[in-house]
Amino acid sequence: MKIGIIGAGNIGGNLARRLTSLGHQVAVANSRGPETLADLAAETGATPVPVGEAAAGAELVVVTIPLKNVPALPKDLLADAAEGFVLLDTNNYYPRERDGRIDAIEDGGLTESRWVEQQLGHPVVKAFNGTYAQDILDAPRPAGDPERIALPVAGDDPAAKQLVRELIDALGFDTVDSGGIDDSWRQQPETPVYGLRAGVEGVTGALAAASPERPANFRG
Ligand SMILES: NC(=O)c1ccc[n+]([C@@H]2O[C@H](COP(=O)([O-])OP(=O)(O)OC[C@H]3O[C@@H](n4cnc5c(N)ncnc54)[C@H](OP(=O)(O)O)[C@@H]3O)[C@@H](O)[C@H]2O)c1
Repeated sequence: MKIGIIGAGNIGGNLARRLTSLGHQVAVANSRGPETLADLAAETGATPVPVGEAAAGAELVVVTIPLKNVPALPKDLLADAAEGFVLLDTNNYYPRERDGRIDAIEDGGLTESRWVEQQLGHPVVKAFNGTYAQDILDAPRPAGDPERIALPVAGDDPAAKQLVRELIDALGFDTVDSGGIDDSWRQQPETPVYGLRAGVEGVTGALAAASPERPANFRG
């Protein structure tokens, strides 16, 4: 698959490592420009590109940057993506440490991913947001392994969600369908599933145990 990754930090870098090793054709971008990604390119074979070119021809576009920077992405970011492309959102809202207050999330009642989707103008699938970046490299296990970790995946488009679930399976993780994007508060920061290393049963139970109320320390 042709994949564009916007963000080359903890998550974007490790997804580039694993996705290239599975044989996908990966373009990767950060905020400072492709010349700053030479080491990652040499290590993985991913192609560093300016952010405006990251989605060109991509069947899957991953946005994995600090949430507050999403509105600053180029307005035509996704214009040249492949027909029917899937947009994967790994992001979290950290109002106090990083992102500042976003009223539409806190007062408007939008889930973090619904807000991202509105900024980018394309439906998203939410996954990896509660996964330790290092686990992308260290935790993969074959299907059927009793120690295999499961990741929650939210999205409104069944086909897009299925594509992401199959990719995550190929990366070495089980998945649990966590519902639509309006339900994706169940996997936001400080919910029981956030950062949980458990299998399908544990993740399913943690999603069910979540409370929709935004925790006080995740308010700006
Ligand atoms: N770290 C984790 O374990 C983890 C786990 C799950 C989810 N997440 C979430 O996933 C997202 C990424 O986290 P991270 O830890 O990978 O972040 P990170 O290590 O801070 O990396 C952020 C990346 O985004 C790039 N970036 C920032 N603004 C950009 C812009 N306007 N255009 C293009 N690229 C831009 C940065 O490029 P420069 O370096 O050039 O500025 C950097 O490559 C966050 O929303 C985070 O909350 C993180």
